[in-house]
Amino acid sequence: MSILFYCNFNNKKQWLTSIKKKFSRQKIFTINDKPDFLKIEYAIVWNLPDNIMKKLKNVKIIFSLGAGVDHIINLPSYNKIPIVRVKDINMAERMSYHVHSQILIYQLKLYLFQKAQIQKKWLGEQNTKLNKEITIGIVGLGFLGTYVGKYLSNLNYNVIGFKRKNNKTRSKIKIFTKKKLNKFLSISDVVVSILPNTKKTNDFINKKFLNLMKKNAFLINIGRGSTLNEKDLLLHLKKNKNFHVSLDVFKTEPLPKNNKFWTHNNVIITPHAAALTDIDSSIDQMFKRFKDFKKTGKIKSDVHLIKGY
Ligand code: GLV
Repeated sequence: MSILFYCNFNNKKQWLTSIKKKFSRQKIFTINDKPDFLKIEYAIVWNLPDNIMKKLKNVKIIFSLGAGVDHIINLPSYNKIPIVRVKDINMAERMSYHVHSQILIYQLKLYLFQKAQIQKKWLGEQNTKLNKEITIGIVGLGFLGTYVGKYLSNLNYNVIGFKRKNNKTRSKIKIFTKKKLNKFLSISDVVVSILPNTKKTNDFINKKFLNLMKKNAFLINIGRGSTLNEKDLLLHLKKNKNFHVSLDVFKTEPLPKNNKFWTHNNVIITPHAAALTDIDSSIDQMFKRFKDFKKTGKIKSDVHLIKGY
């Protein structure tokens, strides 16, 4: 069995070593090995270029090195091959830490101290809210969103969620559906968006959405950059001086040096770093799915191609 491994992560060597260790009976190739692409039966990838995808004519399963699969299904040469994605508790836990850290910067007004320090200014104590006084609205209640919601709810925040359809109730979080977006946004002090990149979510967070939020709200985007209209957000920030955002994902990544968000007072930027994929637990999961497939010859794709995630 031949497996192709491709990614551009900083720790790609570590990934390769761990994959080789776990899949010890298989031949693992990177593109530098110049493999015979027709012999590749499995691919473990992140941001695979389309010219390589095109050559993988006999691949049976594509494993995504992250929770998102847009980097695969948006490739012109992708042809409905089953996808296995990362659905990992360690990733969800790290994502929750990230979200909580951003909420605390806003809640405890730490951003004021950070700016004051640069000016050597002694600001003194600030009036801050307790967790139970803050309502957090989660947009995108998949595996990660639901986990983050429960995590925050256990810390006594009021957590609510927004979903197009309330088909499955996966937790105690109060769900607002499509027609209730106004209400949902009008009561959320913090909105956390964990939406995937699909046709339906494109620019979902736009002028209309932002105008429905509280004037002094905090928006955290850790889903995909495509879901946020960046021009609308810049305008909204200009008009609403008490509106804050924390952005981890952008339309163009890495964020270009001339992007206005870099230097905006009310914007926190992190470099698509909200939830690292945990090497060991993710590879364990991939190996399990791989072994099941070898045994049964069956694999259920984790991706609904019409929904796009
Ligand atoms: C990161 O963005 C992921 O999809 O895992």
